[in-house]
Amino acid sequence: KNLFNFLPWAEELVENIKPYLPPDVPVIAQVLVHDADPEKWARHTEKVASLGADLIELNTGCPVGAMGHIDARKLPPEAKWGMLMGASPEILLPVLEAVVEATNLPVGFKLSPEVGYPRMLYLVEESVKIGIRYVVTTHKYFAVAPPDIWDHGVGKFPALEANCLADFGGSALRFSMYKATALISKHFPQIDTFAGGGIVSAEHVVEAIMLGANACQTLTGIVSGGIKLLTRTNEWLDEYMKKCSYTKIDDFKGIGLRHLRASTEAKFYYYVAQPDLGLCNGCGKCAESYCPAITMQKGKPVVDARHCGCCGMCNFICPVDAFNYIPRS
Ligand SMILES: Cc1cc2nc3c(=O)[nH]c(=O)nc-3n(C[C@H](O)[C@H](O)[C@H](O)COP(=O)(O)O)c2cc1C
Ligand code: SF4
Ligand code: SF4
Repeated sequence: KNLFNFLPWAEELVENIKPYLPPDVPVIAQVLVHDADPEKWARHTEKVASLGADLIELNTGCPVGAMGHIDARKLPPEAKWGMLMGASPEILLPVLEAVVEATNLPVGFKLSPEVGYPRMLYLVEESVKIGIRYVVTTHKYFAVAPPDIWDHGVGKFPALEANCLADFGGSALRFSMYKATALISKHFPQIDTFAGGGIVSAEHVVEAIMLGANACQTLTGIVSGGIKLLTRTNEWLDEYMKKCSYTKIDDFKGIGLRHLRASTEAKFYYYVAQPDLGLCNGCGKCAESYCPAITMQKGKPVVDARHCGCCGMCNFICPVDAFNYIPRS
């Protein structure tokens, strides 16, 4: 209904931002239309492109549309926008095609984590054929928030009388981001992969770049860490690169992908867990865990090598990182 409401504001924003940007920093304009009509997306993109942006990003992962319906199965295809459209390739692909035809600017789209694996790879494969130049991984998850267990199961949001359908971003999304960034950049090196979702520290930026990201987005990181997260991240990156003797981003971009392979193709080392009794404080948490290989004897953990599968969980459980993993004799 209100397709063009934000256009004057966006125009002002682009005009005001551009003079301050170094010439090699592009402005990405994001397009969102509240239905699945390819024609409307194309016309809206034309308008946004005319504002002076350098790239077009289609918001095809927004969970807000899905939050308005308690059962999205009942919606007709044309009413599916945002995440509902992004997670349905048969609805999304005609939109991507119409937009790519409508502009000369590079077009990318923002993936919903609700697409899932391996469907996201089919989707990216088809979108590359259409002419999509980059993919942003990923938008927020669609969610149901927990009920308040101390108040009869009502919702916890102070301003809402119901427990409304919700979404979430932040750290819990990071593993979706790793997965999508790594697999898309590995299988589709001809397009750019922008990593987003769960990037809340400078280290996460390096991880994403090592998994092939060409650029990174963060939102929850800024909400929780403040806008200075961006300058802090750039400063940390400079220091990190000096420490590792990297002179440019390309020195470490994608190097993590060299180690990415199917578990059936990886060599398995026959190791066994061994607690460092000097570090161990005798808390017993490792022996109380699920592992049948560990018992406490005279206040210290003992690992029965016959039952240790070298899963690594004991060090995850141990509060002082007391476990080492050594080759089996
Ligand atoms: C308040 C809020 C507003 C958002 N608005 C948009 C938006 O307009 N377009 C978009 O693509 N994503 C939007 N997002 C999603 C974020 O860009 C991001 O994809 C998501 O939060 C996951 O990344 P994060 O873990 O860094 O937050 C919004 C998120 C929040 C919390
Ligand atoms: S590595 Fe796994 S199997 Fe071995 S002792 Fe630790 S928790 Fe048990
Ligand atoms: S969890 Fe760690 S500190 Fe606690 S008993 Fe086991 S090895 Fe020792």
